[in-house]
Amino acid sequence: MSIINDLAWRYAAKRMNGNKVPTAKIEDLLEAIRLSASGFGLQPYQIFVIENPELRAQIQPIAFGQPQVTESSHLLVFAAWNEITEEKIDSFIQLVSETRNVPVANLGDYRKAISGMLNRTQEAQANWAARQVYLAMGTALAAAAHFKIDTTPMEGFMPAKLDELLDLSAKGLHSVLMLAVGERDAAADYMTNAAKVRYSKDQLFIRM
Ligand SMILES: Cc1cc2nc3c(=O)[nH]c(=O)nc-3n(C[C@H](O)[C@H](O)[C@H](O)COP(=O)(O)O)c2cc1C
Repeated sequence: MSIINDLAWRYAAKRMNGNKVPTAKIEDLLEAIRLSASGFGLQPYQIFVIENPELRAQIQPIAFGQPQVTESSHLLVFAAWNEITEEKIDSFIQLVSETRNVPVANLGDYRKAISGMLNRTQEAQANWAARQVYLAMGTALAAAAHFKIDTTPMEGFMPAKLDELLDLSAKGLHSVLMLAVGERDAAADYMTNAAKVRYSKDQLFIRM
């Protein structure tokens, strides 16, 4: 099946049937997210993979009662770094050094380029990190479609309340997006058979 068919198959499920997605498929999805591109490759986020039903029940009111929070198999919370620090850059440069077998001393220019981030305000750093989360989400949505896993990307929640519940500020993180992962409940979901609404290529692309 082509990626176009996969993307046409996927939609943001409004209802899920509670079925568990097999572990191997979940691991494939997590691996795809891990492989997402990010600015400098820094991956300035962490992703919580939540199966615990009690915790998901606590999250549901924070997400305005959206059913997918509890009907999904897994709930992913994408949380971005609150700031970019020297330590974080050092740790990443160390990873590059070990992964590519290049001495840290040879990575000075790379480190310098990333360090430009340190001149930005903390708010700008947090916003930049959040933008990288959206890219990881895009990767997740396309990969899940390829694996025939249903998903719902979710911005519809109160981030400050979720941060409090998951104690994110103590971890230097703030919640940006959630992704419900599961199996669509075709009978209950009014969106299952809805046609995709997208601008035409002529409207969307300005060819020059
Ligand atoms: C960043 C983002 C946040 C979204 N938040 C929610 C949400 O909280 N709840 C929901 O049911 N759908 C949510 N959606 C789904 C969109 O409404 C949906 O992707 C859009 O209408 C396009 O339809 P499709 O994805 O089903 O093709 C969100 C989508 C994105 C990309």
